[in-house]
Amino acid sequence: WVRSVRSQKEVLFLHINDGSSLESLQVVADPSLEKRDLTFGSAVEVQGKLVKSPHRRQNMELQAEAIHVVGPCDIWSFPLKMKERHPLEYVRQFPHLRCRNNALGALLRIRSEATAGIHSFFQDNGYVHIHTPIITSNDCEGAGELFQIEVSWAKESAEKTHFFNVPAFLTVSGQLHLEVMAGAFTHVFTFGPTFRAENSQSRRHLAEFYMVEAELSFTESLQDIMQVMEDLFKTVTSTVLSKCPRDVELFHKYIAPAQKVMHVTGKNYNPLILFSSSCRISYSEAVEILKQAPQTFTFKPEWGCDLQTEHEKYLVKHCGDVPVFVVNYPYDLKPFYMRDNEDGPQHTVAAVDLLVPGVGELCGGSLREERLPFLESRLQRYGKSTDARRLAWAEEYLDLRKFGSVPHGGFGMGFERYLQCILGVDNIKDVIPFPRFSHSCLL
Ligand code: 4AD
Ligand code: MG
Repeated sequence: WVRSVRSQKEVLFLHINDGSSLESLQVVADPSLEKRDLTFGSAVEVQGKLVKSPHRRQNMELQAEAIHVVGPCDIWSFPLKMKERHPLEYVRQFPHLRCRNNALGALLRIRSEATAGIHSFFQDNGYVHIHTPIITSNDCEGAGELFQIEVSWAKESAEKTHFFNVPAFLTVSGQLHLEVMAGAFTHVFTFGPTFRAENSQSRRHLAEFYMVEAELSFTESLQDIMQVMEDLFKTVTSTVLSKCPRDVELFHKYIAPAQKVMHVTGKNYNPLILFSSSCRISYSEAVEILKQAPQTFTFKPEWGCDLQTEHEKYLVKHCGDVPVFVVNYPYDLKPFYMRDNEDGPQHTVAAVDLLVPGVGELCGGSLREERLPFLESRLQRYGKSTDARRLAWAEEYLDLRKFGSVPHGGFGMGFERYLQCILGVDNIKDVIPFPRFSHSCLL
């Protein structure tokens, strides 16, 4: 595809790009080869000689002998313009065309490398990859933010709209299925699409996103879980930096909001430096820090209440713009599967959230309640507030605690939030291949 056409008296210059990198190939041609439909955005086939370029800025150039326009492009209606640096908000309106824009092209190549990097990290460390189901009967997080699956052809009775004999949903997390597998393979991971019917339309929330999840058996300390989070971040980030340095550079130079870049690591944003120091506080300490803050929050910090985005931001700043691990959350605030710390009657659980500058919560994890009586009473409480059919999976989950139960734990990392963090991208819609946009039918 033609990225630029520059026609001079004696020579015609084209830059053509096939999406393999940010770099375009320079084509040098005789002006007689110029045609009317050889424009920015058109698809071309060029025959010629690949030679060493006399110019400093490129190694090679193509001396064209023939140029054939395969697919012309109507530049007047084509929303991308030659040599213009379109803002991300602008190209977001064209989900079917924006991948031909430099920034989105770079982003999608980075996303591809990061995906491979995540798989390599786990495979190299002895984890077994598991495809956890996308259609499931469990609401792992118990937050009720579920997309329910119904069949379109049975409308007569409410009952019949269930395809299976229990209600089925799009997964909010593969964790419970990973716990099954951790009971056989010790270390397992999954990396797939995740769905949440969350009410918030924010710069950090998507209805459909990708989550990386790991589950480790024979683990008794949250420290082990935090170490894997940190190692995963560092390893994947250094892979991305070495595989596509130019693509990353584009983001740090032109896209990342300047103040954020300065904030995090000084002049040059290097996401690898992010973990050169990190901070670890308990939830209770976090609430004390927030209560003593010189600013007022929209949500008053109170022990027992969820940490809001404004709180997370403050905590990260307070700790010096470094990643912050917050551990040991209130028992009643967290899902049923988290392990009771036994520091009072149902006071706190062994949970950990990782907060990072610019993004807030990047990872959430915990030790799991592996003790049968604890889990049974927890599920009973949970069951009272839930439709019994929605607990169809619970019996099998409890079985795991009867047959060779071991201390275990794990975490999930939002993949899009990870990309936002390493690239400094403000809006989560700009790190996915297809943003949902109201007027688009490509949704
Ligand atoms: O903290 P969450 O809800 O944790 C779990 O689902 C656990 N079951 C994971 C586990 O332990 N295996 O979600 C994990 C991460 C969050 O920290 C966040 O980065 C991301 O998933 N996330 C979202 N990302 C984009 N859009 C949303 N709506 C998200 N909800 C969660
Ligand atoms: Mg969470």
